[in-house]
Amino acid sequence: MAKRYAVILAAGKGTRMKSKLYKVLHPVMDRPMVQHVIDQVKTVHLDKLVTIVGFGADQVEEHIGSGSEFVVQKKQLGTGHAVLQAEELLTGKEGTTIIVCGDTPLITGDTYQALFDEHEKTKAKATVLTAKAPDPGGYGRVIRNEQNEVEKIVEHKDASARERSINEINTGTYCFDNQALFRALQHVSNDNKQGEYYLPDVIGILREQSEKVSAFLTEDFNETIGINDRAALADAERILKRRINESHMRNGVSIIDPDHTYIHPEVKIEQDAVIHPGSIIKGDSVIEAAAEIGPHSEITNCYVGEETAIKQSVASDSKIGNRVNIGPYAHIRPESVISNKAKIGNFVEVKKTKLGEGSKISHLSYIGDADVGSNVNVGCGTITVNYDGKNKYLTTIEDDAFIGCNSNLIAPVTVGQGSYVAAGSTITKNVPGDALAIARARQSNKDGYAARLKNRQKD
Ligand code: UD1
Ligand code: CA
Repeated sequence: MAKRYAVILAAGKGTRMKSKLYKVLHPVMDRPMVQHVIDQVKTVHLDKLVTIVGFGADQVEEHIGSGSEFVVQKKQLGTGHAVLQAEELLTGKEGTTIIVCGDTPLITGDTYQALFDEHEKTKAKATVLTAKAPDPGGYGRVIRNEQNEVEKIVEHKDASARERSINEINTGTYCFDNQALFRALQHVSNDNKQGEYYLPDVIGILREQSEKVSAFLTEDFNETIGINDRAALADAERILKRRINESHMRNGVSIIDPDHTYIHPEVKIEQDAVIHPGSIIKGDSVIEAAAEIGPHSEITNCYVGEETAIKQSVASDSKIGNRVNIGPYAHIRPESVISNKAKIGNFVEVKKTKLGEGSKISHLSYIGDADVGSNVNVGCGTITVNYDGKNKYLTTIEDDAFIGCNSNLIAPVTVGQGSYVAAGSTITKNVPGDALAIARARQSNKDGYAARLKNRQKD
């Protein structure tokens, strides 16, 4: 099989983003846009991948990591000049080189594969990926001759009114015969409105040399959107969101309001799960069958078991079992393990806590660094006092224990199996199994005192 190479253009500053962050590092959902490009291009078998970096080179390289070779374009003199920087790594090599802009994050691996296949099948020297844009403003236009063959690409700024009326655009993605590419690049000039060396000029140059050049028109313009400003960034986010949501719905997930549901690409959701409006599910979360998320919940890197409901709550880096009820307004912080049929109710914060099967923390509590057994009832307002200002300590509550309302459990401490803690206690010592612990001031009533006090105040 012919060798395949890829060059990713990511040296530009992205002036139109008006940002301190370099354009290609702006995230689309879960990762920088250039990372989307690289991840998708890499689904095609490649013999070499080179990324051209310039503005913010260190940061861009750091993000991409070992997944690519890098070449620095010191001055951003245009996309043609950018590709020339890879000459040393690619010149003379036989094979096909795909060139992709770092700001077109939604093109899929399938489209890259189809472009390679088409290019190799037709034996063209260049095949440009094109699309029909509803509003082509800003993009390079594809100029065809009477035989409908591609003649050249004209940048928007250099285009005549007639050329601007063409809605077939250059997506900025091309396959080239590698040797022909570097030969043609020598002839690209910067004699144009922007004074830049345009890569798309290579198309016209090859045509003038009577080489075979073709276009590969994709059906879906949305896939090829180039992000130059924040409005396009929001468009990309919306398109990706819709693409992901549609694939879940086709797999049997109910999404009540797909326009207001944000599910990141790595998330797995099983059949009959229901995702309510305003929910965000991120990272490598797994949502099992018939679970209900939201309305308004944010789940990050969590496993959520079957038929579990999480309403108006935030959960991260935790494992939540089957038929658990969480919320409204609960916060499940990292390293928590919530067993089947447990309940975590209104205004409860849980951190690094194991909660056993069927246990309940129904209202207004903070339970952190705790190992709670099964069928435990944690009363309203209970606090594990886990931190002495320096270190964190563990609270253990054994099976079937009952913690009365508004108790403080000063860790390290163990409340034994089946024991009771009286409401309002501050527990500083271990409670043996089956015992009742009361740790609060004894109440004394002074008969008639209030009435006497009121009389005195009248004088
Ligand atoms: C480019 C194409 C245009 C196409 C559009 C598709 C050119 C001249 N124009 O326009 O035909 O319709 O993409 O989205 O290629 N870059 C460098 N070094 C440079 C200049 C740019 O690495 O010197 C990188 C940028 O970081 C970016 C990519 O190349 O990732 C494209 O550059 P950009 O300025 O966004 O080109 P467009 O004007 O969008
Ligand atoms: Ca662009």
